[in-house]
Amino acid sequence: MEPLVRMKKISKSFGPVQALRQVDLTLHQREVLGLVGDNGAGKSTLMKVLTGVYRPDEGEIYLNGQRVRFNSPYDSRNAGIEMVYQDLALAGNLHVAGNIFLGRELTKKYLGGLIKFLDHKGMAQEAARLLERLRVEIQSVDLKVETLSGGQRQAVAVGRSMGFNARVVIMDEPTAALAVTEVAKVLDLIRNLKEHDVSVILISHRMQDIFEVSDRIMVLRQGRKVGDLVRSQTTMDEVVALITGAQGEALQTVTEVA
Ligand SMILES: Nc1ncnc2c1ncn2[C@@H]1O[C@H](COP(=O)(O)OP(=O)(O)OP(=O)(O)O)[C@@H](O)[C@H]1O
Ligand SMILES: [Mg+2]
Repeated sequence: MEPLVRMKKISKSFGPVQALRQVDLTLHQREVLGLVGDNGAGKSTLMKVLTGVYRPDEGEIYLNGQRVRFNSPYDSRNAGIEMVYQDLALAGNLHVAGNIFLGRELTKKYLGGLIKFLDHKGMAQEAARLLERLRVEIQSVDLKVETLSGGQRQAVAVGRSMGFNARVVIMDEPTAALAVTEVAKVLDLIRNLKEHDVSVILISHRMQDIFEVSDRIMVLRQGRKVGDLVRSQTTMDEVVALITGAQGEALQTVTEVA
């Protein structure tokens, strides 16, 4: 079966900086891929190529075997790929339901469509259902997002992406600023996404988080892919050695999951 996402030989430079060198990435259905590497390794750039923020200098992207060309995040979102940012994408002064439906508000029509009203009740019900499905504990969808904790915000952002029928959710450092109990909830959320047939790419410097939820771990170093490992067949020591280059260029464990 074709993988959900295949990125082939992606290269991207910013002036003299070669951020990505011939990088391949595969993401399968119902898979959590941990994407790791040192600062500046190219992780965020690779995800920005996948979401149409940047156009690659070279390389191709395939979704279910079909070549795609994303010119903007709008294109990738339409294809079911969502990037979750912890704060940026949410409107703090809006309530939870408002955020989940931001940009695609439900309306009620009267007089044969002559008058349209926002369907607040419908949006609140739908938002509550969505969060319940993801087993997110937020007391009320009427709470303003600015009153929520970092982990709860993360959950609302994921809920929003699910509302857009995402097939792939990308999370860039979702747990970096969170307390221990909140981290656990975000990791639960990632597992729940998988149960709902959503694949996840998780970028994190927290190796324990990566090992807790990933099926596979991909390592970038200085813009190159230096490892692609099945989680159950590797160790933190091995992954850290690949990140730092302690094992030299020779070690390249590429394991494809069927
Ligand atoms: N818009 C840009 N303009 C110029 N250089 C950039 C730009 N974006 C990224 N880079 C450079 O590309 C390289 C890869 O950066 P990237 O942000 O992808 O790293 P990263 O792996 O996400 O690092 P971190 O873990 O610190 O977030 C770095 O050398 C960075 O300085
Ligand atoms: Mg980054």
